[in-house]
Amino acid sequence: AGMITLDRGYKNTGSCESAITFLDGEKGILRYRGYAIEDLAEKADFLEVAYLLIFGELPNKEQLDKFSADIRDESEVDEEMKKILDGFPKSAHPMGVLSSLTSALIAFNPSSVNVDSEEEMYKAIVKILGKFPVLVAWTLRKKNSLPLNYGDDSLGYVENLHKMMFEKPGKKYNVDQSVIDALDKLLILHADHEQNCSASTVRMVGSSHAGLFASISAGISALWGPLHGGANQAVIEMLEGIKQDGGDTHKFMQKAKDKEDPFRLMGFGHRVYKNFDPRAKIIKKSADEVLGGLGIEDPVLDIAKGLEKEALEDDYFVQRKLYPNVDFYSGIIYRALGIPVEMFTVMFALGRLPGWIAQWREMRLKKEPIGRPRQIYVGANLRDFKPVGER
Ligand code: CMC
Repeated sequence: AGMITLDRGYKNTGSCESAITFLDGEKGILRYRGYAIEDLAEKADFLEVAYLLIFGELPNKEQLDKFSADIRDESEVDEEMKKILDGFPKSAHPMGVLSSLTSALIAFNPSSVNVDSEEEMYKAIVKILGKFPVLVAWTLRKKNSLPLNYGDDSLGYVENLHKMMFEKPGKKYNVDQSVIDALDKLLILHADHEQNCSASTVRMVGSSHAGLFASISAGISALWGPLHGGANQAVIEMLEGIKQDGGDTHKFMQKAKDKEDPFRLMGFGHRVYKNFDPRAKIIKKSADEVLGGLGIEDPVLDIAKGLEKEALEDDYFVQRKLYPNVDFYSGIIYRALGIPVEMFTVMFALGRLPGWIAQWREMRLKKEPIGRPRQIYVGANLRDFKPVGER
């Protein structure tokens, strides 16, 4: 017992000790297991980063080969899953479909639920890493009315994902290496971000000893919201809206500052970063490179840069320390890579999967108690019950 302190939105409450991700919001520092995000984005690949986040060390060649092979061995999903996907309307939002399919996986993999030993955890982890890209690809293929497919064992994790998403019947699949590299980098930048809303959700759900897949499915739901991962979709929709309205960025800046108006500048601001978001810096550069490399001119990129410039000089934004976050430029890259807007947050989910797994594993290995915050009750005192006829 003792005094309960109220901390709405847990702005100043630490929920756990963690050795996974270090973040300094004042200095704009982000490190996974001690490695600078800039280094990892430049030099590592997504699967290496996944291994690092989950197990704490960068893998050597042998460890990476084994990890990759174990994941590949788990890259098929039960045929019955296709019927579940079939039941959704084509218009269903991909995040709802992905969360549902992730939950549905439990029915076909019951051994993934009660995992206590490290070995059992490992099996559940490679299962979800193997099957998740299939679910992501199928979610997109359903939208695009393409037949469902499986991956190609000879390809790396990200290229395999890309192929599953985009290959078309009767056509030879071909992709530029720069596209795979850009996608790999984006996934790395999204791979973990300590106790954000979805990671906290994964830990909270997992703390009742619900299984890994159920915890991840809940994390996907948390990520869906526009204040969290859903911001990447909301940013592009906002930029398109500004473009269609004539491209007057100043007008929308005013709208964002107007407290009577619920409009916010999507892709701006962060709970922790109060100087800059190091991921946004890398992504902005990458957006220029990817669009340049593919020879794409996207007027929305100019609007985004215009908004950023204006915001960085605006008193309202400066005082509140609002800077572009990871989602401000990511959507522009996803779009250039041919990924539809409604799939943006699904790509974020795939990127965040290793982080969710790492957070869940750490929570279970540390034998954290069930997550159960308290409250300050402000409701009615004891009242007399009256039967319905007397009310
Ligand atoms: N546009 C206009 N004003 C803003 C914005 C914005 N994007 N973000 C914050 N503010 C204002 C807010 O109105 C408040 O003003 P005041 O102090 O006068 O009331 C002040 O800045 C502090 O904001 P807050 O909402 O109390 O801060 P928070 O830490 O609760 O919220 C946030 C952080 C990221 C939810 C918020 O900045 C936001 O809604 N941003 C837009 C959505 C977005 O881009 N989300 C992605 C976050 S990064 C990736 C991820 O998590 O997935």
